[in-house]
Amino acid sequence: MSLPEPPLVEPVGTALRIIDVTADRYPECLAVLRTGFGTEVSEFGITRENTPSNPAFWDPSAIPAVVAKGFGLFAVEGGGRILGCAFAGPSRSRPRIWSLRHLAVDPATRHSGHGAALVAEGVRRARAAGAEALAIGIVAENTRLAAWYRRLGFETIDKTQYPGLVFTVERMRLALSPG
Ligand SMILES: CC(C)(COP(=O)(O)OP(=O)(O)OC[C@H]1O[C@@H](n2cnc3c(N)ncnc32)[C@H](O)[C@@H]1OP(=O)(O)O)[C@@H](O)C(=O)NCCC(=O)NCCS
Repeated sequence: MSLPEPPLVEPVGTALRIIDVTADRYPECLAVLRTGFGTEVSEFGITRENTPSNPAFWDPSAIPAVVAKGFGLFAVEGGGRILGCAFAGPSRSRPRIWSLRHLAVDPATRHSGHGAALVAEGVRRARAAGAEALAIGIVAENTRLAAWYRRLGFETIDKTQYPGLVFTVERMRLALSPG
């Protein structure tokens, strides 16, 4: 699978589109993030106790907090419902690197390209801002997820076992051509 080339913001299906998420729809995104990451936590031994920062355990203050750090929240909408969402924005510590964070698709609507469409939108935004690369951090033990990102063009930078974390953090990066 490869990322669609520009234009990247376009309907991803007849009734599907990428939208900017406004604050009135944060609760809808929060529900998608909770159920979306819920499948991941149950598979990898992640709990509210050992990883309270995982979106599966977010409370309503979490989305505004990420947005306040300069990350844009966007979503795939279909039939008036948010089916998946993600955040993208500039890395604070690494110049010209953008991060894609907290990508989640409703388990009921997976395997239809919504995840890839959200990654493509993150790429579009990063490239438009002049970024050299789009970075992500994933649970390394989720080898299926890593393989998916690899198919989308990402490469592994490193894998780190942080003290206190029950999983390994894999940093991946997609080099961006100027857009
Ligand atoms: C990863 C995820 C966003 C993909 O969403 P999607 O809309 O199904 O993505 P696409 O349809 O574009 O691509 C599907 C591919 O994603 C991968 N994938 C799907 N579900 C997955 C899961 N639960 N875990 C890992 N990889 C998954 C598979 O390779 C799948 O291929 P397949 O349809 O041939 O089985 C979605 O599975 C999800 O929300 N997972 C839980 C949250 C998560 O891990 N987010 C990533 C954080 S960095």
